[in-house]
Parts: sequence; C-alpha cells; structure tokens
Amino acid sequence: MENTEVKSDRCQTGIPGLDEIVDGGFPRGRTILLKGECGTGKTIFAAQFLHNGIVKYNEPGVLVLLEQNINYFKKDVAAFNFQIDELEESGKLVIIDASLSRFNLTDTATKSTKSFSLTSRDLIGTKEVVDIIIDAAKELKADRVVIDSLPALDNLVRSKENVRDVILYMNYRLQSKGLTSILVSDILEHRSSDIEGYVSDGVILLRYQPSGPDAGRTLTIQKMRGTKHSGNIHPFGFKEGVGVEVMEAED
Ligand SMILES: Nc1ncnc2c1ncn2[C@@H]1O[C@H](COP(=O)(O)OP(=O)(O)OP(=O)(O)O)[C@@H](O)[C@H]1O
Ligand SMILES: [Mg+2]
Repeated sequence: MENTEVKSDRCQTGIPGLDEIVDGGFPRGRTILLKGECGTGKTIFAAQFLHNGIVKYNEPGVLVLLEQNINYFKKDVAAFNFQIDELEESGKLVIIDASLSRFNLTDTATKSTKSFSLTSRDLIGTKEVVDIIIDAAKELKADRVVIDSLPALDNLVRSKENVRDVILYMNYRLQSKGLTSILVSDILEHRSSDIEGYVSDGVILLRYQPSGPDAGRTLTIQKMRGTKHSGNIHPFGFKEGVGVEVMEAED
C-alpha cells in the first residue's frame, strides 16, 4: 500500500530549545547553512539533527562526511548517545564517507553494507556528487541530508565550477527532492563575500568565545526563509546524552 502519510511543513530538529525559536522546526525541504569557526559544535549539531530525525520522527537521513574520519566521528558523538552504528544497521542512516577521497585513499571502516566510501575518482564534478547523494536518499526514502562540510566539497570537486553555481545547483537538487538539508561551513576570515549564505534558505551561526566577558557558546538564526524566527543571540551548551541544548536569550 502506498504511504499516504502527509508530513508536516516543519522538519523538527528535536534539539532542545531550537524548534521553539524557528516556529516549530525548519521549514521542510529547505537548505540550512550551519556556519561557525572550528570547534563551535557544527558536527555535533548536525549529527543530532540526523539522530533525532531517525529516533524521534522516523525520518531517515544521509550524512556526507567530507572532513572527519568516520571512526572518530562515531566515537565523538557517542558521548551524546548518538549510536551511529545502530542507526546504520537499522537501515535509516547512510554515511557517504569521502573523508579520505582527496588523497585517493579508501577505508573499509564502516560495518554497514549501505554506507560506503568514495574515492577521488567518484568526485569528478558537482553533478556526480549530488547524484550520489540523491540516489542514496532515494533508496533510503530519506527526509534529511547533512553535508559536513561544504568547503571540503569545494576542494574535492576539482573543476572550474563557480562556487555560487555549485551551491545553487546543490540546493536546487536537494530541494526538488523535498530534502531538508544542513550544509556545514566554516568561516573563512579572508573571504569577502558570504556566497553560501545568500543562496541558502536559512543560516545558523554558532560562536564560541573561550574567555572574557562574552565567554561561552552562542547560536544565532541569521536568516530563515519562510518562517518567523528569533533574532536574538541564544547561549547554548552540550549536554551528555542529549547533544546541543539551546537556552533562551539573555536580556
Ligand atoms: N563529550 C563532550 N562533552 C562536552 N563538550 C564536548 C564533547 N565533545 C566535544 N565537545 C565540544 O565540542 C567541540 C567540538 O564540536 P564539533 O566537532 O561539533 O565542532 P565543529 O564546529 O564541527 O568543529 P570543526 O570545524 O573543527 O569540524 C569540542 O571542541 C568541545 O569543546
Ligand atoms: Mg566538524
């Protein structure tokens, strides 16, 4: 029988304190840019989005890992009780591991039969990369996609493609499949324009200030098309067994 379930127009993150400040969840089918400097919590946030999608909302997901070793990734997020191996084995998470592809190395790290590694030969252009992601999402009947991270993808797609066009094309293809996607990006100080931000539907900024009067971690929704959202700076922390926990903004 055909699945007649109608999904709500919101894709809930399940991240404590976050859905409330974006009017119930990310607008479904949109691409959200998650940006911040190194160590601000982008990977934990993105893993939580996928973990909660599967465990809380029965929404399968695809994770494209472009930077981090898959085994270290699994260990790092296990502290928050994201049991990645179990999610893969349940058939609701596929990890496309391209972390070694720029060196033309592959690893047999992943146990799952569905998750797989890419080599540099696979990554010949944006279209091919997006095709691989969309095929995996289709097979899984996925609702969510995470690409961690975008600048690494830019390194891998060894072509003369214009960054803006690459991101526009990627957004278009992901949106046309109704996938709610998080594209992770770091902040490069020397870059004068914020191309990814302009072409994404939403932008979430994570910051970490280790010391001084503004010490701590904060989250700001810089932009979210199609919904009202908080315009405040929200402190956040990491909670064992939960992951990111967003607090109400201070006055
Ligand atoms: N188990 C934990 N408990 C509390 N905080 C943790 C834990 N594990 C990691 N962290 C914090 O999270 C940070 C790393 O988070 P994450 O890997 O998500 O950052 P990131 O923004 O993806 O970084 P990068 O840009 O380097 O990939 C660590 O620097 C540490 O401060
Ligand atoms: Mg990371």
